[in-house]
Amino acid sequence: MINDLEGEQPKALITGFSSGIGFAYAQHLAKQGWYLELVSKDPTRAQKAYEQLAYPHSRYHLADLSNIGGIKTVTEKVDSPELIIANAGITKFGEVGGLKESERKDLFYLLCIGVIDLLEEYVPDMITAGKGRIVIVSSIGAITPMPKSSIYASAKSAINSYGQSLAKELYSKNISVTVSLPGYVKTEAHAKAGLTHLRDKVPEWMWVSADQVVLETEKASLKKKSQVIPGIIYKLVSPFLNMSLANKIWNKMTKRGKS
Ligand SMILES: NC(=O)c1ccc[n+]([C@@H]2O[C@H](COP(=O)([O-])OP(=O)(O)OC[C@H]3O[C@@H](n4cnc5c(N)ncnc54)[C@H](OP(=O)(O)O)[C@@H]3O)[C@@H](O)[C@H]2O)c1
Repeated sequence: MINDLEGEQPKALITGFSSGIGFAYAQHLAKQGWYLELVSKDPTRAQKAYEQLAYPHSRYHLADLSNIGGIKTVTEKVDSPELIIANAGITKFGEVGGLKESERKDLFYLLCIGVIDLLEEYVPDMITAGKGRIVIVSSIGAITPMPKSSIYASAKSAINSYGQSLAKELYSKNISVTVSLPGYVKTEAHAKAGLTHLRDKVPEWMWVSADQVVLETEKASLKKKSQVIPGIIYKLVSPFLNMSLANKIWNKMTKRGKS
């Protein structure tokens, strides 16, 4: 699991590196010469992704970030990163009353409270160092209702709010916080959630690539912007998403359940 020892390179921590946006982020930062501390849950997928990344200045750790034990595993093994990409997550279809209490809690922890626990551990070191960058991958679901995915949307909304507050609090301390709000991104997330039908249902022009999300998110982070909505189409529609007609059209196009 451990490859090259960390040297003088700046160090980035990426959660959820084994596929999708996290993997694209790892590839991007590898090209920039960062030392990478990578985290995901499934051992087979992590090893496969690590081999595919083929970047010696990195190592990976296995942790289930849907509970505090997983966060502690990471904070015990990874010392004070200069850049944190809090990306790990799943999408979950779930009508009200349809998810078990443990499923609701794990999902909310993974997408929101766990991110807070991770950052609360590392940010004081960034303040002492007088520099740092934080990227939180939330979702466009943070700013628009998502029927039948209410736990997902509310967790993404809460972490967006936490990130916006932190961005203001840390700005004068030379630490940037950028929350990324992607729409539909072609990754493994939907297939894992049993939502493969969305690939056909959601029109092609509404999908953004993971690489595009990373490029726009990094650009925003380097400019110290507190929020970014990747993809031109989402930038255009986002101001209207809470209007009732726009919201009806949006929900029709992105309907999660089959009924
Ligand atoms: N795809 C979209 O349309 C979309 C849209 C908006 C926001 N997002 C957000 O983007 C982020 C990345 O998702 P993605 O689309 O790139 O999906 P993905 O391809 O499924 O990647 C998700 C990553 O998170 C890791 N992960 C999932 N649950 C974990 C857990 N309990 N503990 C540790 N690691 C865990 C996965 O590791 P394993 O290999 O172990 O599963 C994988 O590396 C998520 O926060 C997601 O909510 C995605």
